[in-house]
Amino acid sequence: MSKILITSALPYINGVKHLGNLAGSMLPADVYARAMRLMGHDVLYICATDEHGTPAELAAQAAGMDVAAYCDQMHEAQAKAGADFKLSYDYFGRSSSDSTKALTQHFAQVLEQNGLIEERISQQVYSNSDGRYLPDRYVEGTCPNCGFEKARGDQCDNCGKLLDPIDLIDPYSALSGSQDVEVRDTRHLYLKQSEKSDDLRKWVNSHKNDWPPLATSIALKWLDEGLRDRSITRDLDWGIPVVDADGNPREGFDGKVYYVWFDAPIAYIGATQDWAHDNKEASGGDWESWWRTDKGADEVQYVQFMGKDNVAFHTLSFPTTIMGSGEPWKLVDNLKAFNWVTWYGGKFSTSEKRGVFMDQAIDIAPSDYWRWHLMANAPEGSDAAFTWEEFQASVNSDLANVLGNFVNRITKYCVSKFDGTLPDGGKAGEAEAWIAAELQQRIPALIEFYQQREFRKAMSETRAIWAAGNEYLTQAAPWTHYKTDREKAAIGVRYGINLVALFGIIAQPIIPDAAAKILDALNIPEENRTWNFGDASGIAALVDALPACLPVSAPDVLFTKVEDEDLSIWAERFGGGS
Ligand code: 2FM
Ligand code: ZN
Repeated sequence: MSKILITSALPYINGVKHLGNLAGSMLPADVYARAMRLMGHDVLYICATDEHGTPAELAAQAAGMDVAAYCDQMHEAQAKAGADFKLSYDYFGRSSSDSTKALTQHFAQVLEQNGLIEERISQQVYSNSDGRYLPDRYVEGTCPNCGFEKARGDQCDNCGKLLDPIDLIDPYSALSGSQDVEVRDTRHLYLKQSEKSDDLRKWVNSHKNDWPPLATSIALKWLDEGLRDRSITRDLDWGIPVVDADGNPREGFDGKVYYVWFDAPIAYIGATQDWAHDNKEASGGDWESWWRTDKGADEVQYVQFMGKDNVAFHTLSFPTTIMGSGEPWKLVDNLKAFNWVTWYGGKFSTSEKRGVFMDQAIDIAPSDYWRWHLMANAPEGSDAAFTWEEFQASVNSDLANVLGNFVNRITKYCVSKFDGTLPDGGKAGEAEAWIAAELQQRIPALIEFYQQREFRKAMSETRAIWAAGNEYLTQAAPWTHYKTDREKAAIGVRYGINLVALFGIIAQPIIPDAAAKILDALNIPEENRTWNFGDASGIAALVDALPACLPVSAPDVLFTKVEDEDLSIWAERFGGGS
């Protein structure tokens, strides 16, 4: 058993997230966390809302609310959306917590003591109409990299390039739309990332074999281009106040706070502290053994999940903070980066309300349907296009036809012909040997895919195992033997019901609601729902592991098919569709 720390990129507070965000960070992190728990590991899955910076200020302003009140409300809304999607966070914290504030100021202080932070005069866009500096997302304009006309000051949504607001062509204020803007001098703190380039390169290279190429290639591209020092403060009121090297309020920094991307990853640690504090029983008050390598965290496997636009911050900026502190903090071990889920030729977008958002999705279909579809089509190797038709196919073919039908067919048959009692007797024949061999080969592959965080492959292996169940029933055909050879029918039913249990067990990380329904119908005790399958002979024995006379019932309908009519209604409501 190992300790596995899992974090998924912290969702910005500016609204309930869309399915693209969900598929690229929180959902795979949850599926992985569930699988690792089932394998017996000690898992801690931490997430939080990312509450500072311009996204929060702009969204609060649009909602006509005070920023703190807006964040309170949206934190609750995002926590609810996560719960509705069955995201099994051990803790869903907030980057605005006192612990993250103290840690952020601490890191800034030690980095400055270590000579890695310095004050510099920089240039920033000032809006004459708004009477203020316009940091990051308060400025929009044309991307100097790809020509996209609505690029934000910090990053282009079209090509993903990180930007400096003064690089934008034809900049205008995102607050008022005014083009009456000019570049002025302002004082900020800079993190001297460039000084850590060699250490970062060595560290990234050491992960070339265990991170997805997407992650290492992005990090190395930045390093090859020459890492620029980045300003880690902003002219804003909302955020963490800036301190000097002694930890006191910093002179000349009134009205400035740390840049949201400086404190957001630190909130992974802050939220872990908050988890330990709020869950004394589970944690024993101990957060340090997860994060401090001098307190046991060198034994922890730390896995981060994120979309590709977050990779540079997690492979370069945050590691600069960690390494530069000179303190024994844990660095990430495995970084799982995802491409985009695309929405009918473009991107999902929170600001432009394009696509389907988590609260809307749950309104039209159960979370299991979305979870399965998004994981089976995870944007791992490349971007993955969402289409209503493929969503329909995932639900109707994979869930309803392959899994649902199998469970339904054999449990109902057991109830009607064997009084809902697992039948005894019968001699294993060819069909039984075939399915045992299938599992001996497929279950270890499935486990390996989960361990490697290869989600598409794990989903396709899961589907293949479910399909093998149907193939087994076709071969064993207990219904054709029932009248003539009761023993032969009994063994087919018994193996079939054992497969139902196994299918429910392997479905748990992906479709937890349906899995629970299946396992409840078979009265499988909690302790037997784990993935302690043992060696090859243990796996082969799974086909006949349930106790004789186990009471069996048929679960309620597991999956309802998505009709063409549903698709038309949804396409009308959300856009997309043919
Ligand atoms: O891109 C985003 O949605 C950011 N809020 C992710 C932050 S990840 C972490 F560093 F906090
Ligand atoms: Zn661009």
